[in-house]
Amino acid sequence: MRMIEPGYLGNPMERLDGSAKVTGTALYAFEHPVENPTYLHAVQATVALGRVVSMKTELAEALQGVVAVITVFDTPRLADTEDRELSVLQDPAVHFRGQFIGAVIAETPETARHAAGLVQVEYDELPHDSELRADRDDLYAPEDVNGFAADTTDGDVESAFVAADVTIDQTYTTPLEHNNPMEPHACIAIWEDDAKGGRACVTLYDSTQGVHVVRETLAPMFGLELEQMRVVAPHVGGGFGSKGSPHAHNVLAILAARRTAGRPVKFALTRQQMFAIVGYRTSTIQHLRLGANTHGLLTAMSHDVIEQTSKIKEYAEQTAVATRIMYATPNRSTSHRVAALDVAVPFWMRAPGETPGMYAVEVAMDELAVACGLDPIELRVRNEPEVDPESGKPWSGRNLIDCMYAGAERFGWKDRSRRDGRRPVRGGLSPDGNWMVGTGMAAATYPAMTNPGSKARIVFGADRIYTVQIGAADIGTGTWTALTQIAADALECHIEEVRLQIGDTTFPFATVAGGSAGISSWGSTIVAAARQFRAEHSATPLAGVETTTETPENPDEDVYSMHSFGAHFVEARVHRETGEIRIPRMLGAFSIGRAINAKTLRSQLIGGMTMGLSMALHEESFRDNRFGHVMTHDLASYHISTNADVQDIEAFWLDETDAHVNPMGSRGAGEIGIVGAAAAVVNAIYDATGVRVRDLPVTADKVL
Ligand code: MOS
Repeated sequence: MRMIEPGYLGNPMERLDGSAKVTGTALYAFEHPVENPTYLHAVQATVALGRVVSMKTELAEALQGVVAVITVFDTPRLADTEDRELSVLQDPAVHFRGQFIGAVIAETPETARHAAGLVQVEYDELPHDSELRADRDDLYAPEDVNGFAADTTDGDVESAFVAADVTIDQTYTTPLEHNNPMEPHACIAIWEDDAKGGRACVTLYDSTQGVHVVRETLAPMFGLELEQMRVVAPHVGGGFGSKGSPHAHNVLAILAARRTAGRPVKFALTRQQMFAIVGYRTSTIQHLRLGANTHGLLTAMSHDVIEQTSKIKEYAEQTAVATRIMYATPNRSTSHRVAALDVAVPFWMRAPGETPGMYAVEVAMDELAVACGLDPIELRVRNEPEVDPESGKPWSGRNLIDCMYAGAERFGWKDRSRRDGRRPVRGGLSPDGNWMVGTGMAAATYPAMTNPGSKARIVFGADRIYTVQIGAADIGTGTWTALTQIAADALECHIEEVRLQIGDTTFPFATVAGGSAGISSWGSTIVAAARQFRAEHSATPLAGVETTTETPENPDEDVYSMHSFGAHFVEARVHRETGEIRIPRMLGAFSIGRAINAKTLRSQLIGGMTMGLSMALHEESFRDNRFGHVMTHDLASYHISTNADVQDIEAFWLDETDAHVNPMGSRGAGEIGIVGAAAAVVNAIYDATGVRVRDLPVTADKVL
């Protein structure tokens, strides 16, 4: 791998889009100025399964300011209805509660919302089934889990488990969780019938993690060629995976725009609607078995997962995949079983798979450390695999031990081992005697992926500026800044000479901002384009020259196993009388290759850790299985950690460069911060109280 010489790489540069954001001039999806807009509000099913028999729209249509009402009975067919999550209003069948069955287009958002409530709907209701339980008799093995094998077996777990000196055999559960980016899912759709030589043309201002992904998914559904559709998203107020694919609201907006004869349609989901429409993290029931000898060496490890999907579209998550590479053991098995329910389709939520899966693994490892009488760091060090246990490949850089030692040093972990053993609780008491205090740690991992297929164009202008175009996304992570730094270093020019252009399908194809692969994928592409540009046009190019190239293949991908690692350290305080839980300190030490931008990187890591804290203590969606809907569908009832919950939080990373992953040497850091964080919180609470909570979230009632 030929690396680029770091000049701007690693700098804690201010966000280039920062002042536009804080002064309110950065345009988000709903805010793009369009002429004469209309507003859309959806009508949603109030049954979980069945069929719409009739929809009376007269009252809604009579309301002043209503442009049109569309329903399952009068919506033209889509060209492609294979995706049953996206193919809205195509027939009267209802597959989950909250599904779109109609919409009102009006002159104001208030009118649209009011009119949507006036549509009278009759249903033939069928009994639904929305409850995930381990004893269901219809659990099945999916063909794959997000592209990975559903089941793996190495050695003989059963015999090794029976023969083990020390065993852990426990079930861990995680609840449904919902993505809540600050900017709700929103879009503006414009359908112009005769825009391009008599052909239809659709413009979609969207809040998305990938403009090209949206276009490639939606254009064929409307029978459009790619060039008949443009998707624009210069700024996105968070996504966390839920904006990694278009959802039904995008289709509904375009359907409405086709109806309004050229008038733009503005559509913002309400926070409540997001809980039914834009995906969520599956709940999980995870059975973990660890077998070890008296020295804490793992001899057996099994991880069997039960999770859910929707009957209309399979999304099976890779919950136990990290277990296949995390620790050394001669006998290992993993499995995934799925229940298809009458519910909305689950989807990505920050580190899908690794987040719930590593929660269970890392709490089980803590239980094993206690059972073996070993420090949890020492237990992990003893079970460190030399090579990737699954593929047998060498690591491109597995520095978990360094993360644990460096994190322990900074956290002050060694104070933990100096306990006198005479305290009423394992950890200790606060000076005022009211709080039980403990510390815990957990490990983290996330794969380093580079998605193939992106293209970048570099144009040298008469103004002596290099315009770098790639249809990438900045979902608040810092892409605008990081890619500009990469481009300047790759072109070996001053950063002021680079003008980055992203967030528009007008620019060359780019892969989605997901899987922590955005900067690695787009950065690799920009570096390749810069090198080709220099080769073709030299260091002193003529004005007007340009170069376009694609993500190069990385031969090292066949040779090395590429993953990031990390270690979380947490201090927990639990009130002796009330069970109130406080987390005064969180520290994360990470191995993520080279930092591209030290400032935005730190934000990603502490953001992930905060989301892990939130998962540990707060986040839980309740589905009322009598009616099939999620009751906790707003920020008053779906709790997310806020400033008052987050106290001293710190993240740092090893000073390293991964020479195999990409020319920047960086492995991506959007997701690893959440992986393992909840386990560290649970392990610290155990240390404080002696109560081992296995079912998230940890609430006061569970520790009293
Ligand atoms: Mo991330 S959940 O892969 O968008």
